[in-house]
Amino acid sequence: MSPETASTTYRRNHLFLLLLIGFISVVSSDELESLLNLKTALGESNTKVFDSWRPDNSVCNFTGITCDDSGSSVKEIDLSNQNLTGSIPFDSICQLQSLEKLSFGFNRLHGSVTEDLNKCSRLTYLDLGNNIFSGPIPDISSMNGLLYLYVNSSGFSGTFPWSSLENMTSLIVLSVGDNPFDQTPFPMQVLKLLNLNWLYMANCSIGGEIPAGIGDLTELIDFELSTNYITGEIPKEISKLVKLWQLELFANNLTGKLPVGLRNLTKLQRFDASTNYLEGDLSEIRFLTQLTSLQLFENKFTGEIPPELGEFKHLVNLSLYRNQLTGTLPPQLGSWSDFNFIDVSENFLTGQIPPDMCKNGKMTELLILQNNFTGEIPASYSDCKTLTRFRVSNNMLSGVVPSGIWGLPKAEIIDIATNDLEGGITSNIENAKTLAQIFAAHNRLSGELPQEISMATSLNMIDLSHNQISGKIPATIGELSQLSSLHLDNNKFTGEIPKSLRSCGSLSDINMAYNSFSGQIPAALGSLPTLNSLNLSYNQLSGQIPSTLSSLRLSILDLSDNKLAGPIPESLSVDAYNGSFAGNPGLCSQKVSYFRQCSPSSSDTSGVIRTVITCFSVGSAVILIFLAYSCYLKKKSQNDDEARSLKEDSWNIKSFHVLSFMEDDILDAINEQNLIGKGGSGQVYRASLKNGVELAVKHIRNSDSGHRKRKHSGKQKSLEFDAEVETLSSIRHVNVVKLYCSITSEESSLLVYEYLPNGSLWDRLHTSKKLGLDWETRYGIAVGAAKGLEYLHHGCERPVIHRDVKSSNILLDEYFKPRIADFGLAKIVQTDSTDGSTHVIAGTHGYIAPEYGYTYKVNEKSDVYSFGVVLMELVTGKKPMEAEFGENKDIVFWVCSKLKNKETVLSLVDSSIPEVYKEDTIKVLKIAIMCTSRLPALRPTMRTVVKMLEDAEPCKLLNIIITKDDDGKKKTDKILS
Ligand SMILES: *[C@@H]1O[C@H](CO)[C@@H](O)[C@H](O)[C@H]1NC(C)=O
Ligand SMILES: *[C@@H]1O[C@H](CO)[C@@H](O)[C@H](O)[C@H]1NC(C)=O
Ligand SMILES: *[C@@H]1O[C@H](CO)[C@@H](O)[C@H](O)[C@H]1NC(C)=O
Repeated sequence: MSPETASTTYRRNHLFLLLLIGFISVVSSDELESLLNLKTALGESNTKVFDSWRPDNSVCNFTGITCDDSGSSVKEIDLSNQNLTGSIPFDSICQLQSLEKLSFGFNRLHGSVTEDLNKCSRLTYLDLGNNIFSGPIPDISSMNGLLYLYVNSSGFSGTFPWSSLENMTSLIVLSVGDNPFDQTPFPMQVLKLLNLNWLYMANCSIGGEIPAGIGDLTELIDFELSTNYITGEIPKEISKLVKLWQLELFANNLTGKLPVGLRNLTKLQRFDASTNYLEGDLSEIRFLTQLTSLQLFENKFTGEIPPELGEFKHLVNLSLYRNQLTGTLPPQLGSWSDFNFIDVSENFLTGQIPPDMCKNGKMTELLILQNNFTGEIPASYSDCKTLTRFRVSNNMLSGVVPSGIWGLPKAEIIDIATNDLEGGITSNIENAKTLAQIFAAHNRLSGELPQEISMATSLNMIDLSHNQISGKIPATIGELSQLSSLHLDNNKFTGEIPKSLRSCGSLSDINMAYNSFSGQIPAALGSLPTLNSLNLSYNQLSGQIPSTLSSLRLSILDLSDNKLAGPIPESLSVDAYNGSFAGNPGLCSQKVSYFRQCSPSSSDTSGVIRTVITCFSVGSAVILIFLAYSCYLKKKSQNDDEARSLKEDSWNIKSFHVLSFMEDDILDAINEQNLIGKGGSGQVYRASLKNGVELAVKHIRNSDSGHRKRKHSGKQKSLEFDAEVETLSSIRHVNVVKLYCSITSEESSLLVYEYLPNGSLWDRLHTSKKLGLDWETRYGIAVGAAKGLEYLHHGCERPVIHRDVKSSNILLDEYFKPRIADFGLAKIVQTDSTDGSTHVIAGTHGYIAPEYGYTYKVNEKSDVYSFGVVLMELVTGKKPMEAEFGENKDIVFWVCSKLKNKETVLSLVDSSIPEVYKEDTIKVLKIAIMCTSRLPALRPTMRTVVKMLEDAEPCKLLNIIITKDDDGKKKTDKILS
């Protein structure tokens, strides 16, 4: 049914129903009308709940309706969780004189709620929670009999009407959290609500301190104030809340110690004060024997973990990571209950791993990374079939790894790296069907890799480097089709590198350095489509370098210190791979000067001179321009024999005269009036063709034109330029600017691009052409630009490193969809810059990755850095360099200096971005921070950046139902995975 016919039908039905109203007698016709009004208002809902709402049925028999005892008046409307959409007609509903309960929770109701709501003055129960309303909650002060009030996660904004609560002293449940309210100090009205059992005020912008008066709310069972801006100490009066079952204070700015008296909360089962600035010891916890979940991670707690924790009979979750705790874990810990989860990583804990945490067979995660634990891995964990993550890296564990650990059937990560562990990877691994990652580097593992490793088919990362593993790599390794990273370096492997690796189609990173591999490098490695890093250095490999490696898009290639011989394949003889071949006295090269020259017979002749002029994906107009301009160029290069001979192929134009006005078009365009941009690499003009097509033409003057003595290098440049342009011409991506055509001569080069009317992101963020770009647009630009770069890095035949990613190289089309522009140009121009001419800048100040400072070996990760800077511009609205950052300080420094607490972080966000989006912007800022890690290896790939950005999609109000992170696990995963 089309929406139109649907609504007509509704209207007709409605009319029909109204006609029938007169015949209904059980309940007053007013009540029926109110309900039918409601049905109409929510008529678009995809629900069956209204099927019974027919005039021929009794109102008291409507689904979701309860009448009072006399059966004559509607007392309750409960339409929660019915997939309702629409806005509620409170004016009509509040006419139901006996209405006491109104429950609309867990729907998709929208619109603003009018003052009419206050007419429902007899309500004892009001639930509007988990919807997508907008605007503020109106005054509800008439509802003095209210017992239950739920408006959590409903999209309401503005100021909550706290003063309405003044006389609502019967209130038992007050649930207002997870709404983007304006920031407010702790509302004192709440302290009068002495009957409150349940107070949910998490994530709704409450600041200031927790008042001492909280101690008056002695009926509280649940008190949740997490994810706010609370400062100061936890007041000692909290100890009066002796009925508390759950206390949630995480993600605030609390300081000081756990108050003396907290011990009185003996009924407390769940306590979460993680991610604050709390200090002191945990001695108050000793008495909280009923605890099931204790989450105090990311604080500044010191001292020992109370031994009493080992006696807690119900404890199932313990998360204390990132504190400064010392001492040991109680040996009995987790042995009583269905213990599930421990994360005490990043403390200074010593002693042994408690052996019985999986006694009841329920444990899923054992995380004790980065402490000083000693002793062996208890054999009991071999049988812990429920474990998904076993992470004990960076400790001082010793002894043999129990063989069953390798075969844990649910394990996803086994991380034992950087200990003093012995033993080998055992054939039990055949049972590890879900195992994705093994981190075992820096131990003393020995023995051979078992063939059965091939049966752990989920493996995508294997890091066994810096051990003493020997023997051959089993050929079955080829069956690991998910494998993307294989680090076996610094072991005692022998034998050949298995050809079967070719079948690991996801491999992107191979490091087998410092072993005793021999034989030839398998040519099959060249067919790994995503291989990005290959390190086979310091082995005994012999024979020639397979030419198949030329087809790889490697950012790291290290074959040094082997016994390789013969010619280095031409395409690998480039600057980026300098040093990749050292220590192989048998190698020779035509191009790399510090190698012996190959004898003529072995020289690679692939470097055939190609045409100087290329054009691609040509619309007819572009062909015309190209031909016309070629002609123009030809005139200018009469005396260049070579160029002339090269152009002869393309020079069979039939009708030159028809084209002559096109020549005017393009040449006319290259004048001051049409100048639309000036960059390090040349000037950009806008060309409006007579047929209405608009193009951007970039004019680059070659610096060494006329330098006869350097003619040879000029030719080299021309070839490289040509090759580069050819690569770029094959790029087809919506987020990369289209290059229609390139034309070069000895004097200058001309690049013809699509024209983008909205200029550059830089202009729109920072100049007089500044627009108030809203967050969703900025987010769209971030994702689009990331996809463009992802394509350049991972989607092309050869990776294209942009080397000058910046907001002025991100252009915007009429819909503000971004295009990466000027790719590779810096590089092209740079090869021509040996005379030190000033227009050559590899990258732009403020965007340049730190590694540029000490190495010319830039790879994709340098682009990732620059992109991180662009993300920071989008979030903060600041330029990469601003005076306010301090002398010589850039945006990356500035952002990092503000990561102290939530307030300072939020202060980074562009003030023009509305409050609702702040959380979303922070997600993007986090990605920006990762992208700008100092060490290239720590930066994500653009592929990962795209994924992360997509996960950070702004919660439109529709998605605002925030799922509470209820035991901190997810947080842990994020930090430690
Ligand atoms: C809720 O309604 C939407 C849109 O009308 C529909 O796509 C969805 O399947 C419905 N969900 C349920 C659980 O009925
Ligand atoms: C109540 O509704 C059900 C189902 O809609 C119907 O079968 C029944 O006859 C109704 N009872 C009354 C008293 O109207
Ligand atoms: C609360 O009750 C007092 C005393 O009856 C009255 O003066 C005040 O206006 C009431 N407050 C609200 C918000 O209704």
